[in-house]
Amino acid sequence: MKIYSAPLQGFTEAVWRNVHNEVFGGIDDYYTPFLRYEHSEIRSKDIRDVERRNNAVENLVPQIIAATPEEMRPLLELIRNEGYKRVDINMGCSFPLQARKKHGAGILPHSDLVAGILEEVKRNDDIVFSIKMRLGWNDKHEWQALMEMINDTPLSHVTMHPRLGVEQYKKPVDIDAFREFYDACKHPVVYNGDLLTLQDIQRVENEFPELDGIMLGRGLLANPALGLEYSAGKEMSNKELAISVRKMHDKMHDVMAQRLQGNTQYLNKLKPYWEYLLPDMQKRDKKAILKAATIEKYMYAVNDGLANY
Ligand SMILES: Cc1cc2nc3c(=O)[nH]c(=O)nc-3n(C[C@H](O)[C@H](O)[C@H](O)COP(=O)(O)O)c2cc1C
Repeated sequence: MKIYSAPLQGFTEAVWRNVHNEVFGGIDDYYTPFLRYEHSEIRSKDIRDVERRNNAVENLVPQIIAATPEEMRPLLELIRNEGYKRVDINMGCSFPLQARKKHGAGILPHSDLVAGILEEVKRNDDIVFSIKMRLGWNDKHEWQALMEMINDTPLSHVTMHPRLGVEQYKKPVDIDAFREFYDACKHPVVYNGDLLTLQDIQRVENEFPELDGIMLGRGLLANPALGLEYSAGKEMSNKELAISVRKMHDKMHDVMAQRLQGNTQYLNKLKPYWEYLLPDMQKRDKKAILKAATIEKYMYAVNDGLANY
C-alpha cells in the first residue's frame, strides 16, 4: 500500500515537506495544500509553494480547488509550466469560505459543476488527475450521484475521507459508507481520515486489502515517523522520535528564522505545529511551548519538552 502525505493548509507547505522528506521520509507522494484562482489571480504565496526551485521533494502533487473549468485553467497552466505531470482536485475541503463558493466539498451536491470539472480533466490529457473527496456536503449519499461520471473519467485514483463537509472533523469517520464507495469506485481508492497509529493503518489495510494507499494528515503532523513505521512494520521509540523531531524542528527553524521577521511572525508560524506534534508529550512542556512569547523562551521550552519525551 502506498503512503501519501495529505494536504493541510498552513502546515504541509514546502518547508515542512522538504524537511520532513529529508529527516523522516516514508512517504510515496506529498500533496500540496490547495491552490486557488480568485479575483483573477493566484496568490503569490501559493505560487511560491509549488515552484520547483522551492521544492526538494521529487514526488510532489499539486492540489487545486475550483468550481468551474475557467477557475481550473490558470492553475493548470501554472502547474504545467512548473513541469508537474500530476494534479489532485480538491472536492473535500470543508472550510465554509470555500464551500460557499461551491469549492471543495461544497461542489459535491452540484453534479453539473462536477461534470464541468471532469470534462476539463478529459481535455487535459497530458496531465494525470486524481480527486480527493468526502462522501458529500450534507448527505452521505451525494457521492452516489457522481460515481458514474467519476468512473468514466480517466483518474489515477480517488481519495475518500468518509465524512460530510458539514461535519468538518467532528463525527467519527463512516467506515460503512466508505466500504460502499470502495466497492463502487472503479479507480484505485485511497483511504483518508483519523489514522493516528501504525495499528490504525494496519487495521484499514486488513479491512480493505484492495486499497491503492492511505493518506495521512494530522496523524503525520503528530507523529512524523508514521509513514516510516508502516514500511518498517514497527513503531519508533520515544527517544528515537524525539531525536528526529529535534532535527526536523531545527531545520525548519533555520529556514524560517531567515525568512520570517521578528518574534511574532516566527512564533506564529512554528508554534501551531505543536498543536498536533507529539500529542503525548507532558502537558506542562506542551503548554510552555505554546505559551512562549519570545524565540528564546520558545527554544528553551522545545529543548525541555524533547528532553523529557
Ligand atoms: C488545518 C487543515 C488544513 C487542511 N487543508 C487541506 C487542503 O488544503 N486540501 C485538502 O484536500 N484537505 C485539507 N485538509 C483535510 C486533510 O487533508 C484531511 O483530509 C483531513 O484532515 C482528514 O485526514 P486526517 O484525519 O488524516 O487528518 C485540511 C485539514 C486541516 C485540519
